[in-house]
Amino acid sequence: MNFPRLHPDTLEEVKDKIDIYEVVSDYVVLKKRGQNYVGLCPFHQEKTPSFTVNQDKQLYYCFGCGEGGNGIKFLMEIGQQSFTQVVLELAKRYQVPIKTLEPEKRQEIQKELSLRDQLYEIVALTSNFYEHALQEPLGENALNYLIQKRQLTTQTIQQFNLGYAPSGWETLYRYLVEQKRYPIALVEQAGLIKPRKKGNGYYDTFRDRLMIPIKDIQGRVIAFGGRSLTDEEPKYLNSPETPLFNKGKTLFALDQAKNSIRSLDKVIVVEGYFDAIALHEARITNTVASLGTAFSESQLKQLLRYTDSKQVIFNFDADKAGIKATKRAITEIESLIYSGQVNLKILNIPDGKDADEFIKSHSDGINKYQELIKKAPLWLNWEIQQLLIDKNLKQADHFEQVAQGMVKLLNKLSDSNQRSYYISYCGEILAQGDARILPLYIKNLQTQLNKPLTKSTHKKTDKNFIKSEISAENKLLKEAETILLKLYIHYPESRQEIFTKLEENNLCFSLSDHRIIWHNLLEIEEETVNKEDNEQFISKLEIKIIESSQVINKINELLSFREIEHYEDSNRLNLIIDAALISLKKVNLEKYCHYCEQKYKAINSEEDPVNHQYYLTEYISSKQKILQLQPLRSFSQLDIYG
Ligand code: UTP
Ligand code: MN
Repeated sequence: MNFPRLHPDTLEEVKDKIDIYEVVSDYVVLKKRGQNYVGLCPFHQEKTPSFTVNQDKQLYYCFGCGEGGNGIKFLMEIGQQSFTQVVLELAKRYQVPIKTLEPEKRQEIQKELSLRDQLYEIVALTSNFYEHALQEPLGENALNYLIQKRQLTTQTIQQFNLGYAPSGWETLYRYLVEQKRYPIALVEQAGLIKPRKKGNGYYDTFRDRLMIPIKDIQGRVIAFGGRSLTDEEPKYLNSPETPLFNKGKTLFALDQAKNSIRSLDKVIVVEGYFDAIALHEARITNTVASLGTAFSESQLKQLLRYTDSKQVIFNFDADKAGIKATKRAITEIESLIYSGQVNLKILNIPDGKDADEFIKSHSDGINKYQELIKKAPLWLNWEIQQLLIDKNLKQADHFEQVAQGMVKLLNKLSDSNQRSYYISYCGEILAQGDARILPLYIKNLQTQLNKPLTKSTHKKTDKNFIKSEISAENKLLKEAETILLKLYIHYPESRQEIFTKLEENNLCFSLSDHRIIWHNLLEIEEETVNKEDNEQFISKLEIKIIESSQVINKINELLSFREIEHYEDSNRLNLIIDAALISLKKVNLEKYCHYCEQKYKAINSEEDPVNHQYYLTEYISSKQKILQLQPLRSFSQLDIYG
């Protein structure tokens, strides 16, 4: 497409009207920081914002990749568009008359502009028409519905320009086409009439419906939602997509809500037109409604413009459909949520009521609703609550499902503060009030998160868990042995317990570094006179180890035991010792079991029946012992140390 050369006046006027914040915030979530706004740069991958917008200077600059310029440059870069293309679009957006240097092209552009203008005009006229009809005798039924059933005041009815579409087939058609002489094609493009399926002629899209005008941010009517007053389906009929109306990009009542979103610094998103209207009537005016479709990222970005602290509350219905809509909405806006660019809370009203019903069904409904809003959980807490629904954590398979769900959620968080907060939060849920076990669960969640995200995370179920690959096994062993050594070194009171239990269970350290250290520890313990003085113990250990330099790295790791405060009480200590011993036992048994299996398979039962039988029996009995260890392992959930 060839673009005309623009007149300098047009360019100047566009530059005058364009606002860098508004332009950029269509694409980037911006947060106020000092004089500037910052966000994640759309031109390169980054996790911490270095993309800066300065409204005074009307410039953007990215400290990460060096991209920078004014609003026009931004749109050129982001949309891969030419200068003229961008200026033309901005001219339309800000209703700047377009002057070009070639008069013939000007006409073309004006024609396109005037189509939209004419559509605005037709839709506005129609809205007036419906509004008047509501006050006529033929609209009495609809008006009664609003006042009695919906309990709306005349003021609210006027404020939202509610109306009534009469029941005839051609009422609006006659008004717009015959009386007002608008071209049929335009009225059809506005979505207000439809061609008859049989024969010629047109009929009204909306008949005998309560009409709710849908407006753009500037408050211009662009479409309608029409509620059936009878049982006629659908309950709500909406305008089709038109040059003015893009359902996925529009939010009902945003024009009325934007100032209060700005001053309250948060926005409530509800599902229904009447939820929004009822909340506005209740003076909860920072409310908008999604239009019955999935809530989109573009809708969210529009909202985020008005709240500096990016607080958004979804109040969708609490029934199955509402929960589904909430989850879907979260998925739609996932990238913004997980990177912490929106502070999202979820409110599901108890009893499955919508906002409108809730306010009306309580004597003090408005205050109660405000309370619910205040208490609404953060989206991740809500997601975690959803994981717990109908789950009994005392039941191993449920526990497993919940834990896996948590890992999946946690893995998506890219903000490290958020991550560590929620790791503790999830750990607490899994520990079910047992503070002793909490550090283990936290550690366990952390370990799982370190794994890079695989594409098929949902397949990461017990299969992996049961499949004890050698490497995982060794890791488990290493962790368990390490923790025992650490406890032995730092908790003199645990020494007897660890020593006895290892002896009783016929267990020893299997990694050579650990064995060396263990023997050193036993020697020092024997030599030490004052058993209370742990500093002496540790310094002796250091001296000894320096002599045998091969385990120096390991000993450094063991000596920097930061979790000390976690294990102060002796119950907790014993619990950890037991858990570590179980891991040791299990790994040892598995190795032994594997060994016996190979042996009995290798020995010919006829040539050497005694040994064959021996290894077979040993194989079976060790296998059984492993299985007996399973419940304990499930109790402590996944691999405690790995
Ligand atoms: P709901 O069915 O939850 O209706 O639809 P509601 O708003 O509570 O309706 P009332 O209280 O019975 O009047 C929520 C929204 O989904 C869209 C509308 O935007 C509606 O407000 N919707 C619903 C449709 O577009 N078409 C439908 O047939 C139903
Ligand atoms: Mn409702």
